[in-house]
Amino acid sequence: MSRIRVAVIFGGKSNEHDVSLISATHVIKSISREKYKVIRIGITKKGHWLKYIGDVDDIANGQWEKHPDNVPCVLSPDPLHKGFLVIDEDGSVSNLKIDCVFPVLHGKNGEDGTIQGLLQLAQIPFVGCDMISSANCMDKDTTHTILEAHGIKTAKWVTLIESELDMLNDKCKQIESELTYPMFVKPANCGSSVGISKAHNLDELKRGIKMAFTHDTKVLVEQGLVGVECECAVMGNENPYASTIGEIEAANEFYDYDAKYENAASKVIIPARFDDDTMTKIREEAIKAYKAMGCGGLARVDFFLCDNNEIVVNEINTLPGHTSISMYPKLMEYDGMPFEEQEDKLIKLAIDRAGVDYE
Ligand SMILES: Nc1ncnc2c1ncn2[C@@H]1O[C@H](COP(=O)(O)OP(=O)(O)O)[C@@H](O)[C@H]1O
Ligand SMILES: [Mg+2]
Repeated sequence: MSRIRVAVIFGGKSNEHDVSLISATHVIKSISREKYKVIRIGITKKGHWLKYIGDVDDIANGQWEKHPDNVPCVLSPDPLHKGFLVIDEDGSVSNLKIDCVFPVLHGKNGEDGTIQGLLQLAQIPFVGCDMISSANCMDKDTTHTILEAHGIKTAKWVTLIESELDMLNDKCKQIESELTYPMFVKPANCGSSVGISKAHNLDELKRGIKMAFTHDTKVLVEQGLVGVECECAVMGNENPYASTIGEIEAANEFYDYDAKYENAASKVIIPARFDDDTMTKIREEAIKAYKAMGCGGLARVDFFLCDNNEIVVNEINTLPGHTSISMYPKLMEYDGMPFEEQEDKLIKLAIDRAGVDYE
């Protein structure tokens, strides 16, 4: 059997571009070369697609973008092409066929259903959730609404649309009547804590809302939760597996951008320091949430174990970080699945879902 051609797409027009580069480096290095031929496609911060054949170690530092052998390419939505159209310097176009795409992209334009929709049109198997579940998990307002309809607890919340900025005082009165301080203000579609703030009073609430609207046209204000932040890695299609729970100890007042990526004092504790019963309940909730959102392949379900013992889903990440220190791969490793095996399983799940038989 010839090797399965897997295109790893990295970078992207997203504020999580740099994290994607680190995740993709780890993924590219770990995919078994015995079974798979890896094709690397980078998307610049401006959204240009380039086929990259240079050194893998020049992806994370951003040098890859300047490589002289980069060739522009586009993913064709036409299933006949089954892959990329590569545009050579003389303008000639060749068809690079692939069997599966591994989009190692985080946040907007990668984790939000856009790429997934294109791949569905192209009828190419791809790793991770489909278009609709990616989009629903990206939008925190939609996630809350769907989870609530399935009886899964989320933080109480109020949604604002941009036009409501004109009546901010009235809106804040309504929020204050439904929620108590501290509250969390978030753009509906973002990631890496960008645009998120904690409001302790009316002044901070108004400022937080205005700031969040600079990132999105829809904003959520959530009841602040008090408890332990924890995460569960889920993998699978119809019968997903939920991992041991990991705990986050943020270095700052909350897990903001600095605490996630800059502040080494933030800690990930695996396994979380919970009793077995609590651990089991959170794993069950993770599966429930995964199914309710229609996830497939993989997702990381993030929770709060509140001080009153309530288990509350915070959000679901459909393409969670895949760096060597990221929670998702670490949890699966803790449960006995080495990183290379995770990549293999994820590609197999993608191919299975598409109903293609390569063996
Ligand atoms: N309702 C809440 N109560 C307490 N802390 C919260 C709440 N919502 C978010 N946070 C804090 O803010 C961080 C970022 O929020 P999150 O919804 O996970 O956004 P992102 O998609 O950017 O990761 C969380 O990891 C947590 O530390
Ligand atoms: Mg988060």
